[in-house]
Amino acid sequence: MEFTREKVLLKAENINLKYGENHILRDINLEIQNITRPNLNQGQVISLIGRSGIGKTQLFKILSGLNKPTTGKVLIGEDLHPVQAGEVGIIPQNYILFNHRSIFSNLKLGLDNCEKPHTEEEKKTIIHEHAKLFDLEQHLNKYPQQLSGGQRQRVSIIQQVLTGNKFLLFDEPFSGLDALMIDKVTDLLLKVSLLHEHNTLIIVSHDIESCLAISDTAWIIANQQGQQGATITEMIDLVHLGLAWRSDIRLDKQFIELVANMKYKL
Ligand SMILES: Nc1ncnc2c1ncn2[C@@H]1O[C@H](COP(=O)(O)OP(=O)(O)OP(=O)(O)O)[C@@H](O)[C@H]1O
Ligand SMILES: [Mg+2]
Repeated sequence: MEFTREKVLLKAENINLKYGENHILRDINLEIQNITRPNLNQGQVISLIGRSGIGKTQLFKILSGLNKPTTGKVLIGEDLHPVQAGEVGIIPQNYILFNHRSIFSNLKLGLDNCEKPHTEEEKKTIIHEHAKLFDLEQHLNKYPQQLSGGQRQRVSIIQQVLTGNKFLLFDEPFSGLDALMIDKVTDLLLKVSLLHEHNTLIIVSHDIESCLAISDTAWIIANQQGQQGATITEMIDLVHLGLAWRSDIRLDKQFIELVANMKYKL
């Protein structure tokens, strides 16, 4: 498959996080590069996989600029500047929508926070286009509590897409979903990744199979024997392995073996 990995879009350098004597994250280093493929707006999908309690949500907050690490830095953008809160769209573990606003109005918040100014008429058109694309058109006048958990999650993802942020960070996007819904979220995330060349989805999750099925690159976060603090213990280049960008991937023998092997590495 023809592709190139080019410019660095995000870089985490020597991230350490301590709470007092408690070392949570240790020496985390990673780089996300722009992947290009001929005739496609190929975005990036990467995942950070680790077991419960390992520090994924903490890393999520650091990568999004919401929390500062004890040492180290996260750099993003053309000039690789230190990340600021708000530059990365976040879809938290318990995604938040405004219950007193309709779905339309929740989506509009995304556009209101977009750097690019739009007229009210343009906003309406853009919201309807996205609602149609992501199967939410019939729900625009409803309120969040009238939707299923999966539908609310979709609204929350589209809301972030509409802000124009190229970086979208997801904390456990597959948790609490049945197998069919996991497939739907996977499709949605892939669709979002193909909307723009620079769209970069970062997923933190303990769901090895779902993460590997959707990612071009994955990092395992785990404890190393005798050392405090979780760190990156393995990088999996799914493009290189021929396991990226394939819709039938979950049935592939090599993929199934990879998933089984990774279970022992968390
Ligand atoms: N404010 C804090 N002070 C001290 N320790 C904290 C604080 N916040 C989190 N921790 C600790 O950091 C560790 C990692 O927590 P984190 O929420 O990042 O785990 P996680 O990998 O996201 O787990 P899960 O998969 O269950 O969501 C935990 O041991 C937690 O107790
Ligand atoms: Mg968490």
